[in-house]
Amino acid sequence: MTALQTGSKWSFYNPVRLVAGGGVLEELLVHLAEGKVLLVTTPGFTKRGFTEKLAGLLEEREIVVLDSVSPNPTIDKLEEDARRLDGQGIRQIIALGGGSAIDSAKVFSFMLAAGREFSLRGHFEEQSPLPDIRPLPLTAIPTTAGTGSEVTPFATIWDLSGEKKYSLSSPRLFARRALLDPKLTLTLPRDLTVVTGLDALSHALESLWNRRANPITRAYALRAAAIALETLPALAIDLKNTELRTKMMEASLLAGLAISGSRTALAHSISYPITARYGMPHGLACSFTLPAILEFNAAVDDGRLLEAARALGFASPGGFVEGIAELFKQLGVRDLLEQYIQGADDLLILVPQMFTPGRADNNLRGLSSAQLREIIGRSLALLKISV
Ligand SMILES: [Fe+2]
Repeated sequence: MTALQTGSKWSFYNPVRLVAGGGVLEELLVHLAEGKVLLVTTPGFTKRGFTEKLAGLLEEREIVVLDSVSPNPTIDKLEEDARRLDGQGIRQIIALGGGSAIDSAKVFSFMLAAGREFSLRGHFEEQSPLPDIRPLPLTAIPTTAGTGSEVTPFATIWDLSGEKKYSLSSPRLFARRALLDPKLTLTLPRDLTVVTGLDALSHALESLWNRRANPITRAYALRAAAIALETLPALAIDLKNTELRTKMMEASLLAGLAISGSRTALAHSISYPITARYGMPHGLACSFTLPAILEFNAAVDDGRLLEAARALGFASPGGFVEGIAELFKQLGVRDLLEQYIQGADDLLILVPQMFTPGRADNNLRGLSSAQLREIIGRSLALLKISV
C-alpha cells in the first residue's frame, strides 16, 4: 500500500505536543499555562515522594492534589471526585501515572470544563451527547511504558458492579502535551513492566490487523512492534537498564500513536469482561490471545500480515505466531495468567460479552461466537495451559 493510494480515503490527526528525554520533568513549569493546577496521581506516587517533588517543581503555583486513583477507574468514583473538584478554580491538569491516572485526568479535563449539568453516567447509559466545550488543558506524564494514553483521545472507564467497560472518546480528549521521561519507569517491578509492555505490543498488533489502519498507523505500529519484540525480553531480566527503558517507552509511544488513529481491535475487545470479572491486569488480558488472533486473521491476509511478518524477521505469519508464543514463554505469561484464571471455562463463560462494539468489529476478519471460543482455546493451548 502506498501512502496516498488511489480510491482509499483516510485521515490522521494527533495534536499532542511531545516533550521527551531524561530529566524533562524538571522543566515542567516552563510548559504550563497560568493558573491553579490539579495533579491527578495514585497513592503510590505520593508515598514514594513524587507528589511532593512535583509540587516543588511547580514553585509558587496553587495546586490541588487528587492522589486516590486506583487501577480501572469507575464512573461513580470519577463523578464523585469531579463534584468535589468543581468550583475550586482549577485551570489545568497534570496526570502522573499509568493509564488509570491519565484516563482519569482526561475525564476530569472534560467534566470540570463542562460543569455540573454533564453526567458521565448519562452519557454512557442514555447516549447523551458530549457537550461542545473546550476541556481543561492536560499535561500527561506517563510512568509506565505501555498504555499510550498520553497520545490517544480515549479514556477507559469501568462500572464494576455491572462488569461493564465504557470508553469516553473524542478528539477533544487529547492531552495538550506529554512529558516523556524514561527514568520515571526505572522503578517499575518486573510483572508491571511485562504486562504494560505487552499492552504496547497489543496496541501495535491490533493496529496492524485493524480495518481502520492507514499508512500512518501502520508505520507507527510496525516500528512499535519491532522495538517491543526485541526489547521486552531483555528488559524483563534487566529492569534497571535505562537504554532498554527508553526503547520500551518509545515502543509504547509509537503504539499509542498508531491506535490514536486506528483504535484497538479484537484482543482488547476480548479483554474487557476478563478484567471486569477477574481483575486481570489490562496488559495481560489484552495480549494473551494475540498469537491465536494473528493465526485466525492470517487466513484472510490482504498482504499486510505477511509484510509485517517479514519486516519483523519472520518468514511468514505462521512464523510470527510462533515468535509471539516464544516471547510469551520467555516472559512467563502462562504463570501470570494462572494467577487470575483456572482454565478455559473461566474465559468461555464470558464469550457473549467479548464482542465490544467499536473494537471487535475493527478486526481484519469478522468472527462468530464459535470462532471466538476457538481463539480462546487455541490461546490457552499455545500457552500450554490445560483446558
Ligand atoms: Fe491497551
